[in-house]
Amino acid sequence: MTSTQDLTATTTAFDLKAYLADRQPKVEAALDASVRPAYPDTIYDAMRYSLLAGGKRLRPILCLASCEAIGGNPDLAMPMACALEMIHTMSLIHDDLPAMDNDDYRRGKLTNHKVYGEDIAILAGDGLLAYAFEYIAVQTKDVSADRVLKSIAHLARAVGADGLVGGQVVDLESEGKDITVETLTYIHNHKTGALFKSSVVCGAILGGATAAEIEKLDKFAHNIGLAFQIIDDILDITATQAELGKTAGKDLEAQKATYPKLWGLEESKLQADRLVAEAKTILAEFGDRARPLQALADFITDRKN
Ligand code: FPP
Ligand code: MG
Repeated sequence: MTSTQDLTATTTAFDLKAYLADRQPKVEAALDASVRPAYPDTIYDAMRYSLLAGGKRLRPILCLASCEAIGGNPDLAMPMACALEMIHTMSLIHDDLPAMDNDDYRRGKLTNHKVYGEDIAILAGDGLLAYAFEYIAVQTKDVSADRVLKSIAHLARAVGADGLVGGQVVDLESEGKDITVETLTYIHNHKTGALFKSSVVCGAILGGATAAEIEKLDKFAHNIGLAFQIIDDILDITATQAELGKTAGKDLEAQKATYPKLWGLEESKLQADRLVAEAKTILAEFGDRARPLQALADFITDRKN
């Protein structure tokens, strides 16, 4: 078993910049090909506007890296990777609506409803959500129907009331209230963590992971999902709008409960670092094939947007 210290050294040696420079354009091209302009133009334009607005593409890249980590062919997981980004994008379109967070900027551009109106923005989100599942079912090739079905079921659960939707509901209901760290953790584990988990677990399912491998990857993803959201809370306070590509300081303004509010900035960063270090240790026995996943875990806490 590799020690945590050795693992950090291995991860540092891994060229994440080169890895992302290879993966991000592939994901961009696959996303561009996944939703083509069509009739009715307005809805396809609106879907493409937000889907192709850039972003880190972390969820698709985690999905491909997870497939790779268990020895699978990442190309087979590309439709799933695209579907994850479609779902992430639709959740942001809806999150930005006046009825929710009422935001004007996302990924450095005006939000979907600011450009297309609320009616079309709601429908663009709905269109992306439905299409994501169609896309996995129809476009996943050379993977057994059993694995495809299992991955779809996992993803659907992560999106619904026991996942993103549930997390968003508790988030909205908690605005302006003093909530416990348990409630905040529920919000983050569901609103953000659930899709991170599905990204990692579904990539592994499609690649043919064993139950034991899935269990470890699930724990890895749990930790990095929570760490991601802690860093998001920190960046909302410390980063500028230009760095974030979205309005900064929104959490304070909307009186949202955040980890920095409960723990302070320093302790929040320490907790995120602890979660990532633990996540990396969980993957130690996966060997070199998990190096991209290990490096992506570090990227989550080191990122500036
Ligand atoms: C951003 O959080 C929002 C989310 C991570 C998810 C929001 C979920 C929904 C709107 C439910 C969507 C519906 C389905 C069916 C999936 P944030 O507001 O803390 O971050 P931000 O500063 O980037 O807006
Ligand atoms: Mg928001």
